[in-house]
Amino acid sequence: MRESWQTQIGLIFSAAGNAIGLGNLLRFPSKVALYGGGAFMIPYFIALLLVGIPLMILEWVVGRFAGARGKGSMVGICGELFNHNLLARVVGSLGVIIPLLIVCYYIYIESWTLAYGVLSLFGHLPEGGAQMGPFLEFFKSFIAPSKTAVLFLIITLLINWVILQRGVVKGIEFTAKVGIPALLIMGIFLSILTLSLGGGKGFEGLLFVFSPDISALKNPQVWLEASGQVFFTLSLGMGAIATYASYVKSNQDVLKAGFVTAGLNEFVEIVIGASIALPAAFALFGAASIPELAKEGTFRIGFVSMPAVLMSLPFGELLSAVWFLLLFLAALTSSLALAQPVIALLEEELKLSHSLSVNITMILISFGAFLSAYVPNFIDELDFWAGTFMLVFFALLEVILFVWIFGLTKFHSELTRDAFIRIPKPVLYFFGVVSPLFLIALLYQWGISKAPQVLLNLNTDIIIARVFIVLIVFSVIAIAIFKKGEPKYS
Ligand code: ALA
Repeated sequence: MRESWQTQIGLIFSAAGNAIGLGNLLRFPSKVALYGGGAFMIPYFIALLLVGIPLMILEWVVGRFAGARGKGSMVGICGELFNHNLLARVVGSLGVIIPLLIVCYYIYIESWTLAYGVLSLFGHLPEGGAQMGPFLEFFKSFIAPSKTAVLFLIITLLINWVILQRGVVKGIEFTAKVGIPALLIMGIFLSILTLSLGGGKGFEGLLFVFSPDISALKNPQVWLEASGQVFFTLSLGMGAIATYASYVKSNQDVLKAGFVTAGLNEFVEIVIGASIALPAAFALFGAASIPELAKEGTFRIGFVSMPAVLMSLPFGELLSAVWFLLLFLAALTSSLALAQPVIALLEEELKLSHSLSVNITMILISFGAFLSAYVPNFIDELDFWAGTFMLVFFALLEVILFVWIFGLTKFHSELTRDAFIRIPKPVLYFFGVVSPLFLIALLYQWGISKAPQVLLNLNTDIIIARVFIVLIVFSVIAIAIFKKGEPKYS
């Protein structure tokens, strides 16, 4: 019997845990800092309204539809929606390939948060900003990560493995029911603390995020990055939300579930994410340091400046441990969600047992995670293809496939069934046209501004990463083609 979320609150926390992750607490502040604070926020909100929220609802609708028919991976979902059409299943493969590629590097970064949390708790993190930078370099140094880094990677893989083995209800839902309230409490506590730092100087960091700058809207790069962030943070265009949606009961209000997931995620991103790392850096290092810190990469603010700020306070090691535990919980609930589409594929298309499906998935993820640790540039390469480009591309295919080819009327009746409000059809027409146009414009910009430079950038590390991507792509597509599942209506 296929599992379904046991309680309403469990469903909400699991879905929130799926979306809330390192994207909210590390990626968001770094991007905001890099692209000029308020200048980033206008395209961010526009992308959220035009594509983020509509896609969130869309993935919930199709997930519930296919889940009632026993399917939860995007391959199976597309099969159910299009009467087992082969091309639809091949397109749906992207909804399994993308989360699998992302989780391979995501879980490695998750393991740093666990390591930093434990090291901090036992007083083993160096004090002060000057030593934190070299420490991070030593710790994660690609080619030869420290023994501690490898040990914590293994522990993190095992934690995910055990939870996933326990299944959707006893594993994922249980973890979210404990983890998300803890995350919210710690996040609100750290926000209040950092905003009050330096006699209110932390507030300047918040003002930096929310002072709009119209001039930056002419820069296409800001639009690309802001939209990419919306997809990444909401776990959209990855298939991960649709897979979770497939475990709802068939009369569940998916419209409400979609709004609540997006709302909680945005609360953690815009309120908590914006109120911790940047205000802390403002208070300690001053406004001028922010763009410089951001240029040093996504990890600089979270793993270097943030612990340095916290360790300068009374009970600094404990506070720093709280920060990393917060990151770890956010990351864990997302890595489980990124692994689940692959597990669903193996269970439902290859008819493997749950246990074997989890084992195969985790072996693949472990392989990818070790490549992330030992091959320089592997993370960046996967983050560009799976964590940015493919998200936008698959999101575009999703709108075309699920709204237009499936049929707007059919989609509308599926959307309004059991919903707390009835979305009028013209709203659907509006988003059905505007969202794809927005996505096409983004892809076009990407194509001309980034693709040539990215494609021509070749060296051994990048070739290893691309071979890995191609192997995953072919394996998933092969399953989609050769295991057609049983046609439901024949
Ligand atoms: N949505 C997840 C995050 O923000 C992947 O980290």
